[in-house]
Amino acid sequence: MLDLRVNDAMHRIDAPPEMPLLWALRDLIGLRGTKFACGIGACGACTILLDGEAARACITTIADVGGKAIRTIEGLSGSRGDHPLQRAWKQVNAPQCGYCQPGQIMQAAALLAQTPKPTDRQINDAMAGNICRCGAYQRIKAAIKIAAGEGI
Ligand code: FES
Ligand code: FES
Repeated sequence: MLDLRVNDAMHRIDAPPEMPLLWALRDLIGLRGTKFACGIGACGACTILLDGEAARACITTIADVGGKAIRTIEGLSGSRGDHPLQRAWKQVNAPQCGYCQPGQIMQAAALLAQTPKPTDRQINDAMAGNICRCGAYQRIKAAIKIAAGEGI
């Protein structure tokens, strides 16, 4: 048994310690906003926050989490979905298919938490590992700038 703190709620997990956090979130806890794509830490679709820092849930085991606070897209602003990043995402219609977008938003949330007014270079660097097969990169970047209060 292992306790995970996800979006401010405790969950007791009965699973082997090597289970990827992504499986625990999606299959055991029922939070399916965090997506599975590459499964090897290379695309960012499964990005969540661990104590406020971006992490890849597909290559993080539940044993790796320790007592850290896990935040997923469902917990970014509760059920309202009105975190400044989510509002900005809607404003510019950032998603196309949408699959990569929860990971993109969580990566951006980690960036803005550490660097509230990022430069273009800082945005590019922070988001470089989050792949969007639909190529929505410019809208994603515009949304991050809006959320940072910089306009487009
Ligand atoms: S699914 Fe985790 S990085 Fe691609
Ligand atoms: S919106 Fe389709 S992969 Fe990014």
